Amino acid sequence: MRTYILILSLLLIACIVKGQAIIEGISYDESKVPNYVLPDVLTCNDGSKVTTVTEWEKKRRPEVLEYFYSQEYGRTPKETIAVTYEKLTENPNDMGGRATSKQVRFKFTNGKNVVEAILLVYIPNKRKGKVPVFVGYNFKGNHSTTLDTTVLYSPSFSLVKAPDHPDWQRGNQMNRWCYDKIIDRGYAVATMCYHDIFPDKLGLIKHSVSSLFPTYDPNSTALDEWKAIGVWAWGSSRIVDYLETQDWVDLEKIAIMGHSRQGKAALWAGAQDTRFKVVISNDSGCGGAALSKRVYGENIARIVKIFPHWFCPAFEQYADNEDKLPFDQHELLALIAPRHVYVASAVGDLWADPKGEFLSVYHAGPVYELYGLSGLGTNIMPDIHQPIMTDVGYHIRAGEHDVTDYDWERFMDFCDMHFKIVKRK
Ligand code: GCU
Repeated sequence: MRTYILILSLLLIACIVKGQAIIEGISYDESKVPNYVLPDVLTCNDGSKVTTVTEWEKKRRPEVLEYFYSQEYGRTPKETIAVTYEKLTENPNDMGGRATSKQVRFKFTNGKNVVEAILLVYIPNKRKGKVPVFVGYNFKGNHSTTLDTTVLYSPSFSLVKAPDHPDWQRGNQMNRWCYDKIIDRGYAVATMCYHDIFPDKLGLIKHSVSSLFPTYDPNSTALDEWKAIGVWAWGSSRIVDYLETQDWVDLEKIAIMGHSRQGKAALWAGAQDTRFKVVISNDSGCGGAALSKRVYGENIARIVKIFPHWFCPAFEQYADNEDKLPFDQHELLALIAPRHVYVASAVGDLWADPKGEFLSVYHAGPVYELYGLSGLGTNIMPDIHQPIMTDVGYHIRAGEHDVTDYDWERFMDFCDMHFKIVKRK
């Protein structure tokens, strides 16, 4: 019996490499990265080279965007659905008087059905005039970002919460939302639970906002049907619609920050919606910032198998077939130019392929340069805690897959730089 347990334990230990579980078909071996050729972001499908901003914007950019619509995230519908906003709470004296908080109910409807979401907003009190804002989804409900018991449970809570799961308790993801630091540096923050927009569980699509669209067909076989990432991206634009109704928002200073699967959605939102002036991906990995053609860490075969409701069906053809991809994720980042993009990785998050995330920013550079802006300027990865900030940005920090104060502090440094905010003590 003892020997049996010993063998089992040894096997388990052998199954962990640098903190990453070994999963069949997943490689963490740099020497196994294929000899890939990345599509040149400035070469059009007809082989002609882009040399001007006009050529990029009129010809090449639409081609690149079309790849992401037809091959990866699916097509965002052109039509829209009605939404109303109802202010549920307002506290001008939150956070010891340093912030005003608001909770606003969004009701999306097609006249027959309704989907509800609640936006939680903190606005710094010490700034006069309009303020810059971070928009971002949380994973476990607004109540998970704070211990404040006046913060309401998100409407999707009853649908998706795992019964008695500690993750879902109030304040459980506070470490990902350093509201104190954000407010002290003069930023507002607007967050919503991503499940409110599209519950991230198979079988719950009928509770998503996408089910309200006239084109919604639960039996659709369209290869370019938009799925969860597309719908989350769409939802973050609806947060901006609300912000546009608010006189305290500096509309030229809206940043979106997304972690992991929400990093993927943030990049896609930023590619489509120019109202996001800074787009931040934290540990977004496969289908986010990481280059798919490196096939390092999580790969397409694995992500479409485990999360079939995230990407459009056409993406499946690239499973174990990355070589055939006519585009890659650096081009998603390039779509954000001339607005600013920042990518963050963690050393202990090989699943998200930090090097692939870094190289993606690097290879988006030529489009920034076309605009007379600066790319990363180096294809050598910086050491940990040595961020690079130009018109694009990148850092890798110590630790695991998460959002930490270190990440937020760098995101704010980057936004300070581009929003021209003088650093306060
Ligand atoms: C899984 C998934 C990743 C995703 C992550 C997250 O690990 O494989 O692609 O980024 O969940 O969202 O936390």
